[in-house]
Amino acid sequence: MNSADKILVIDEGTTSTRAMLFDPDGRALGSTQRPLTQHYPAPGLVEHDAAEIWALTLDCAREMVTQAGGPGAIAGIGITNQRETVVFWSRRTGEPLAPAIVWQDRRTADICRTLKDAGHEPIVQAKTGLLLDPYFSGSKIGWALENWPQLRDAGDDLMVGTVESWLVFKLTGGAHVSDATNASRTALMAIGASGWDDGLLDLFGVPRAILPEIVDCAGPIATTDAELFGAPIAITGMAGDQQAATIGQGCLDPGQTKATYGTGAFVLSNTGRSLPQSRNRLLSTICWQVSGERHYALEGSVFVAGSLIQWLRDELRLIASAPESEPLARSVADNGGVYLVPALSGLGAPHWEPGARAAVTGLSFSTGRAHIVRAALEAMAHQTSDLKGAFAADGCDWQELRIDGGMVANDWMAQDLADMLDLTVERPAFAETTAMGAAMLAGVGAGLFGSLRDAAAMRGAVTRFTPAIDGAVRAARLDGWSVAMKAVLAGA
Ligand code: G3P
Repeated sequence: MNSADKILVIDEGTTSTRAMLFDPDGRALGSTQRPLTQHYPAPGLVEHDAAEIWALTLDCAREMVTQAGGPGAIAGIGITNQRETVVFWSRRTGEPLAPAIVWQDRRTADICRTLKDAGHEPIVQAKTGLLLDPYFSGSKIGWALENWPQLRDAGDDLMVGTVESWLVFKLTGGAHVSDATNASRTALMAIGASGWDDGLLDLFGVPRAILPEIVDCAGPIATTDAELFGAPIAITGMAGDQQAATIGQGCLDPGQTKATYGTGAFVLSNTGRSLPQSRNRLLSTICWQVSGERHYALEGSVFVAGSLIQWLRDELRLIASAPESEPLARSVADNGGVYLVPALSGLGAPHWEPGARAAVTGLSFSTGRAHIVRAALEAMAHQTSDLKGAFAADGCDWQELRIDGGMVANDWMAQDLADMLDLTVERPAFAETTAMGAAMLAGVGAGLFGSLRDAAAMRGAVTRFTPAIDGAVRAARLDGWSVAMKAVLAGA
């Protein structure tokens, strides 16, 4: 009997690193997590320490390998990660050469604006499915090469990649690869063609030689250095966290849509083998690539979701803990006319305004803490409703929405999403869909499953929330939101 049937997932997110252990029937056998330090050196700048990312990852992974009973019990490792964040390191020493620039970082807003004003956006969008926004990796890499002399000085020694590339390099002691989903977020890859695109590399000032090789999301991707876990383990699955969540939610057929409310909120609709072309400021992205076959998705990326609740807790101190937001929201009959537009790091889809700033509108002496907290939670449904409109205008009408992420444990918010979107909203009992998707990919890559469809048997039960409010109430709320959003956009 083959005892190597467990799957180890490494989920390196924006605010924490975790590892989970699964058996092939989808049972989570163990989980461990460490918070990741956020560095904000100046307004709009967000950095991570790649050495810390690696140290936390190794710690978490080792704990799970021990829990599995040793490396021999593990069929494959699945890696999933915060996307777009870029890491710069030395090929020779394997150490970071600069801070990692995080996806939320806005330092390249001017570069993007200049490129946009020069008329480059249509070609960038046609090739990459993305827009000219500081969110994506290309402008961040170009900026770093211009502004951090140690990177230029490194010459051939410089390696650059997104977070999964960094982790694979460290896990294997030298492999330099990126999976197609992560590569599709760099704005350097032509996603309808084979790989890095010379025109895009020129546009952002990125030499091809520093970039990884683009590989499939499942298969024998690489093997870990034997010294790390006592014996080598195969890395058999890899995808950006939002793509992994799409897979983990079982959105394997065109039209199926998920929304993850993590640090930000990311909605992806599977479009199958056809590469979508948005006319409504949404993104086209690779959903997965297995055996060289690409499946695509249309994406709406909202930059602030759970990070808003964290900010209310840690900076404004309006709540002591995230779960407190639910009874507070329920404690008032409505938002009391208060709207919160959470543009704390600019606005993503469908507005794309890096210069936008957050606003709380409609305050009066009758406004209490509960109204503001409720307005913050309501902002999730409002932002998602804006995306629903853009997806529909792109010909992708949602039939239902599968939700996940830390925020949706809040039943009030899940119901509010159903109410405001006028849709059935489905929440899996097992909330870790990102890890589940990475486990499904790794299971396919390790040969435990013949296909992602077979691997979907790992998924469990769901709870459904159905719309339960009056159309007039919904319309009034959306009108109030639209007025608040217009004020924010006017000030951007
Ligand atoms: O594109 C950014 C996204 O991958 C970040 O995900 O889960 O850290 O909010 P998360």
